[in-house]
Amino acid sequence: LSHSLEPIPYTSGIELTPENSFHDKLGHKKVTVVGCGQVGMAIAYSMLNQTTAGTIALVDMNKDKLEGEAKDLEQGSAFHQHVRILASDEYSVSQGSHLVIVTAGAAQKPGESRLNLLDRNVGIMKNIIPQVLAFSPNAAICIVANPVDIMTAVAAKIAGPSIAPGRIFGSGTCLDSSRLRSLIAKKLDLDTAAVTGYVIGEHGDSSVPVWSSVRVGGVPLLKFGQEPTALHDAIHKEVVMSAYDVIQKKGYTNWAVGLTSSFIANAVVDNTRHIMPVSTCVRGLYGIEEDIFTSMPCTVGSTGVQRVINLPLTDSEQSKLKQSTLTLWEMQKGIWN
Ligand code: 2OP
Repeated sequence: LSHSLEPIPYTSGIELTPENSFHDKLGHKKVTVVGCGQVGMAIAYSMLNQTTAGTIALVDMNKDKLEGEAKDLEQGSAFHQHVRILASDEYSVSQGSHLVIVTAGAAQKPGESRLNLLDRNVGIMKNIIPQVLAFSPNAAICIVANPVDIMTAVAAKIAGPSIAPGRIFGSGTCLDSSRLRSLIAKKLDLDTAAVTGYVIGEHGDSSVPVWSSVRVGGVPLLKFGQEPTALHDAIHKEVVMSAYDVIQKKGYTNWAVGLTSSFIANAVVDNTRHIMPVSTCVRGLYGIEEDIFTSMPCTVGSTGVQRVINLPLTDSEQSKLKQSTLTLWEMQKGIWN
């Protein structure tokens, strides 16, 4: 063994220039997150881990924090699929997005209801929506900022009639439904995916658990015609109180809404037409006459909400939904005209 080992020829031909330092695996798909606080960053982090899009653009007015967040995410890039991360306090960075997720706005303080945030967040939405549309005229827009149902209606109103119905929708009770399903699954010691069913109506205090839609492994949880019991009511109460509880304990909620929003983003980016409860205009459904946005199960794809599922409801579920929409309208009508 007298010969020496030869290294393979060494290549020094790769120059680090901005043009060749990226290779876009999914570069044609772009999602922008507007508002990069705890919620926006949880959404971005969740999308990054799920390789939802080839480009994630972050927009926030706090430039230093934003640069810090983008850098921090990028520095883990050895451990996730290649995703280009852009960040700026200017909306031009969102140019050509397929989906824009809006989280910007004031957040609940401990004990504060979502509906309390209304006035502060309407002003913020008036600033955001025209800029989002200017740079991404064909994007679907998912509103996450609270009170999400009213914020979504406001965003749709600001966007005006040239935007197809369904393109602007809210994350709504997709999160409340996940909370309900996970609580049931925990009680039954099952995987949450084994439990299906919807919470509809307002995202928050007046949400409506559709117990008649809940199935475990395809089997209805309630026997036909059976009314929910105190045990069911207690589970729904826990769903409603979850955000208050988490905010009391850690100051904000972010991980569950982050995962919810990236699940929604995947449906838009991949045009899956998955059915999920999101906030959409429900005028005309169940005798609702006003321009109210609230959650019903919908098919979600590249153009946003594509169909609303006409979910059969029991009489008591219908009257709770009516009550939920009235609660929303009470708040919304003051800002509507
Ligand atoms: C949540 O339900 C606060 O709306 C937020 O986690």
